Amino acid sequence: MVTVQARGQTLAVHGGRPLRGSIEVGGSKNATLGAMAACLLVADDCILENVPHIDDVEQMALVLRSLGATVEWDDSHVLRINSAAVNKTCPDRELVGSLRGSFLVMGALLGRFGEASCPPPGGDVIGQRPIEVHLEGFRRLGAETGIEADTFHARAKELRGSLFFADYPSVLGTQNTMMAATLAKGTTTIVNAAAEPEVQSLAEMLRWMGARITGAGTHTITIEGVEKLKPARTRIIPDRLEAGTYAIAGAITGGEVEVRGVNLEHLTSVIYKLRQAGIEIEEGADSLRARRSAALTAMTLQALPYPGFPTDLQAPTAVLLTQARGISYIHERVFDNRLLYISELRKMGAEIVTTGTTVAIISGPTPLTGSSLRAMDVRAGAAFVLAGLAAAGRTEVSDIYHVDRGYERIDEKLRDLGADIERI
Ligand code: EPU
Repeated sequence: MVTVQARGQTLAVHGGRPLRGSIEVGGSKNATLGAMAACLLVADDCILENVPHIDDVEQMALVLRSLGATVEWDDSHVLRINSAAVNKTCPDRELVGSLRGSFLVMGALLGRFGEASCPPPGGDVIGQRPIEVHLEGFRRLGAETGIEADTFHARAKELRGSLFFADYPSVLGTQNTMMAATLAKGTTTIVNAAAEPEVQSLAEMLRWMGARITGAGTHTITIEGVEKLKPARTRIIPDRLEAGTYAIAGAITGGEVEVRGVNLEHLTSVIYKLRQAGIEIEEGADSLRARRSAALTAMTLQALPYPGFPTDLQAPTAVLLTQARGISYIHERVFDNRLLYISELRKMGAEIVTTGTTVAIISGPTPLTGSSLRAMDVRAGAAFVLAGLAAAGRTEVSDIYHVDRGYERIDEKLRDLGADIERI
């Protein structure tokens, strides 16, 4: 959990050192949050392996505990979750306010108990983040939904599968509906479902628990309801966003970094676009090696739902493109306000103009100089750390707790690669 002390922490980076070495990627933050919520579907011990030690996981653990579940670390990256004693169907308001993923408890609780409530979930300031898709998914299963006393509710005497067309392929909306539908009567078909690897991995876990799900990873998912699920034992998939961040770190500093333990299939768009920018990427069986051996070149980039380029790597890639020759053009098409970090980057000398809130035009290469920046969300914060690694002089990134929400020991991992970085 974020302590008062961690809130005040800053990362100080002395840039200009090429990063070299090998790094192991951790389990995916967003896959973990879905898996933790799914443990609410059964009244028995569930074991999650390869769980990252990050603040969002600790926060989600508090959310589950506020419902009556026990959540314990069995080993350094193994979580044991038992939801037998869950006796509430609404998590504590102050816990869900800082974590978007907390809303996933709704689908699991609705599936298991036929009723669920949740105060509005928090999350990064990156644009509008409606939850209409989630609520419509619940309604299509026969639940009544509403908002009373600033709390969302969903209730059903009996959940019944049906056809659900999602207006937008929302990741959490798809996961929420999928979890509730596992225990509904009959068959649910989600049309225009999200296809992200984190949706696929949740489906895999639910299948292991006895759910009948097909089509996860495509835009049509079918869930045939079952009477009961059994407890899960699952391994969290590698974090594709952490992998992309470290690959960029190697290349932006003119070094060479091997990222181990990745799933290359999840990184198709990332590898393709980084190569297009001039980064040399060598693929191993479950690793990649990124190096910059020539000048970087400008490119166009669109952040889109999977298999499009991930919005969560849009800011880190923008930093990379400040070092590329020519005019790069970025179009953020997932969130409508995810370019707020750019005004901070300009302090370092980046030449970026925006048109509206979703298009950035970057002229490069521009030398970056150290500055003081404030992390405003997890990915923007990571992007600032990358900028600091590439900049001349000292960069301070404050409010680093945002980065700690999604990256395990980022300072130590970068130090292992030769970065001059300290936490103050
Ligand atoms: N949207 C709607 N209606 C809805 C829900 C979403 O129009 O009812 C729109 C949103 O306005 C937004 C777009 O859909 O423009 C994407 O939202 P989505 O619901 O897919 O995002 P999310 O499920 O809330 C997850 C990740 C995010 C990641 C996005 C997109 C978790 C906990 N969060 O959010 O991760 O950026 O999918 O891939 O899984 C992060 O890790 O830094 C992060 C923000």
